[in-house]
Parts: sequence; C-alpha cells; structure tokens
Amino acid sequence: MSKFININGKIVGEEEAKISVFDRGFLFGDSIYEVTYSNSRTFVFLEEHLDRLWNSARLIGMDLQIDREELIDRLISTAKASNLDETYARVIVTRGESDLSIGTADFRQNVVIYIKPNIQYSSELYDKGLHLSLVSRVRNDKRSLDPNAKSGNYLNNILALQEAKLVGADDAVMANQAGEVTEGTTFNIWIVKNGKVMTPHPTSGLLKGITRAKVIDLCIANKFDFEERAITTQELIDADEIFITSSTKGIMPVYKLDSKIYAESSAQRPVTEALRKCYIELIQNHINSGTHSY
Ligand SMILES: Cc1ncc(COP(=O)(O)O)c(C=O)c1O
Repeated sequence: MSKFININGKIVGEEEAKISVFDRGFLFGDSIYEVTYSNSRTFVFLEEHLDRLWNSARLIGMDLQIDREELIDRLISTAKASNLDETYARVIVTRGESDLSIGTADFRQNVVIYIKPNIQYSSELYDKGLHLSLVSRVRNDKRSLDPNAKSGNYLNNILALQEAKLVGADDAVMANQAGEVTEGTTFNIWIVKNGKVMTPHPTSGLLKGITRAKVIDLCIANKFDFEERAITTQELIDADEIFITSSTKGIMPVYKLDSKIYAESSAQRPVTEALRKCYIELIQNHINSGTHSY
C-alpha cells in the first residue's frame, strides 16, 4: 500500500477511501486544500501551511469545523501509520454534502488527509531545470476567485498546463489581464536581472506560497538585492535567470521559456544556485528542530 487516507479521523484502506457523490467538493469544487510534506519524519513548515488553510477557508466563507490541534494529530497519526520517512501530505476540506443547489449553509465538512511517498526530483533536473511556457490563458482575477484561496477548483491551472503541454513545455506560467506575470500552475515564479532577485507582487494576483515567503526572508537576511513588484511578461522574457518555488520542488531552475534558452546548468546561474544553497540549509535546520515529527 502506498497511499494512506484518513477520512474524518478514520484511517482507511485505498478500497474504502470514498467520498459521497453528494459532496460539494465533487459537485462544485467547493473545497480547500493544502499540500505539505515531511522529511526525515518531520513535517516541514506545518504551522504556516495550517495558517494558509485557515485563510483559504476564510476567503471562501467557510468556518472550519475541525480544531487545529485535532488536524495536526490526524496528520501525525496518518504519517505514523504510513511508516514513511518522506511523505507528500495533502489535506482537503470540503464544505460537505448537500443537494444540487449551490447555496451554502452549515453542512458537515469532510476532512480528508492523503499521504503518499514524497516525489523525489532528480539532481539532473535541479541542474538542468524546467522548460516553461508563458501561456495565453490568464490567471483567475483576484476579484473573481482570489488565487490565495487554495481551493479544490484548479481548472484555471489545469487548462494552463494543457496549453503548455501542447507546445512541448513541462509546465505553464500565467499573466493577469493587465499583462503582469502572476505565477505558475502549482508554483511561484522568480526572475534575476543584473543580480537583482524579483518576484511578482501579490497585487498581480497569485497564491502567496509558503516557499515564496521563506525565500523572500532568505533574500532579506542574506542581503540579496531583492524586490517584490509587478513584473511584465517582457521582463520575464528578458530575465538573466528564472526559477520557481513550491513546497514539493523547493527552488527549481528554469532553463527555457518557450523558445528562449536561459542557463542550461547550475554553473551558469549563480544567483539561483546561491539561493538554493541557503534554502536547503533552512530546510535542514527546520528538520533538525524536530517540530511536528513522528
Ligand atoms: C497556484 C500555486 N501557486 C504557488 C504554489 C506554491 O506554494 P507553496 O510554496 O506553498 O507550495 C502552489 C502550490 O501548490 C500553487 O498551487
């Protein structure tokens, strides 16, 4: 068994891991989720992920019925049951079961935890980097569906990824309607120009990644020349180095954006590599602290 599922506090086998067809997550994408992971049996930045889960709930008008300590207990007990040292852990909370009307009420929320072995990206991939495409599909406007609500409705991102795959890229980066760069399908985006590190400002409409926040802190603490500001698509194309951040990938370089090649090995992207070293050290220190270990 490589998938470990906890449904409303009960650890169940893969065969039993079922949610009702009346669940609003299934019917309408009316749910929120978080992805975190554990390394050496320690959950990484769990408190930050839980803060964001509660913020996602707030943004969609959902009053979370589960207690924070109870959710941590369920995560820890499910990770323990998996006996995995390195896990990928997803927490999904749906608004619960209802009839087919979209109106919301106090339904009984479903809380699902899904744990599986963590994805290990190869050192070759970290050396070479990803091929991204700047797709024509724009990111959801924050006034329609704020990307800061990490909701179960990922169609905007799925369609962007489909578009990128059609041109042979690994993944997609999206702009907003004003032509400002926002983020990738499941990651935040960064550029380096003349030694300066930049990432789009949240006002452009993006999910404030946990990794993004940590890398911003690292830039400031290590005195990198850094700015968080609106970035045009032309500035993205003209960058010297491009990299992405996410919990599962950490800092991952980008070697190609559509037909333009940037650095094709880590030696050619000094700023990304310097930051990557700092980030790896930060994670190691966090793990050594032993918070939320099992
Ligand atoms: C749309 C989007 N942006 C950014 C991120 C990166 O966030 P984090 O660093 O918290 O993993 C994710 C991660 O799932 C995402 O789905």
